[in-house]
Amino acid sequence: MMKSLYQSTRSVYGRILNTIFEKQNKKYLESGWKQDFANFCKLINQNPEDIISDIGKIDQTLLEFHVEKNGKCLESFYIVGSIRYLLEAKGCQNILEIGTGLGINTALMAQIAPSSKIYTCDLPTEDPAYQDSFFVLRKRDQNAFDTNISYLNIKTILKNSMYLFSEDLPNSFDLIWLDGGHHFPAVAWDFAYCYSRLRKGGILLMDDYVVEEERRNPITRKLPDSISDVEDLCNYISRRINETIHIFPRYPLAQKYVAMIIKD
Ligand SMILES: C[S@@+](CC[C@H](N)C(=O)[O-])C[C@H]1O[C@@H](n2cnc3c(N)ncnc32)[C@H](O)[C@@H]1O
Repeated sequence: MMKSLYQSTRSVYGRILNTIFEKQNKKYLESGWKQDFANFCKLINQNPEDIISDIGKIDQTLLEFHVEKNGKCLESFYIVGSIRYLLEAKGCQNILEIGTGLGINTALMAQIAPSSKIYTCDLPTEDPAYQDSFFVLRKRDQNAFDTNISYLNIKTILKNSMYLFSEDLPNSFDLIWLDGGHHFPAVAWDFAYCYSRLRKGGILLMDDYVVEEERRNPITRKLPDSISDVEDLCNYISRRINETIHIFPRYPLAQKYVAMIIKD
């Protein structure tokens, strides 16, 4: 009883803050986004118009659902841009996604890269975190999940990502979308797995890099999806890997970013 009262209060509070953020986010999309997106495109040597045109080829019902469910789906531009870049460079045979969620970006990748194999991993129902977590999105809409992962080039693995090391998966991936548990320890073993399986020249995208200032913000830190250890993880690894970690806005007014590594 106490728990459900707490959860519903938190969710009402979260929704109000999200509505405020949505308005601010819309303003950003109309102003600053163009330049930030241009910086991303420059890094991967792509024309922004080509990425936008690819986005236009995706099933529009899926995209509308995406916006409706997430209200902020800038990460899809980075995913589509990365696939475009990889397809033009050394190819994009294998893609890994940790954290399927509702499978929206999984379906999007399946459409943009029909000849790639997409492996996506999410928690099984028997995992304790499945019951406890607010973030297991398929609990909210199992039908959407089933439809989105039904593409023939998607293989779904319902396992805690800590077991990926012992799964029979390709030795190397061209693109990895790391978007499972954003806290320690999970995010650290996910990174270790992803970095070790990323091929030379491959791209790792990590969602929900939230800047420290925001994580300490007494109001927004109470938003369930504002909390993440990805920035701490990046601070740790940036002193140990050769590659630069680039960050691109994903939900700027909540100071959320997508971190990107192109493997040397
Ligand atoms: C933010 S959602 C993923 C959204 C999705 N990648 C997208 O782009 O639309 C995070 C997902 O990670 C899953 N997850 C959390 N911890 C996990 C773990 N240890 N192993 C596998 N999946 C996990 C949750 O169940 C949730 O569905």
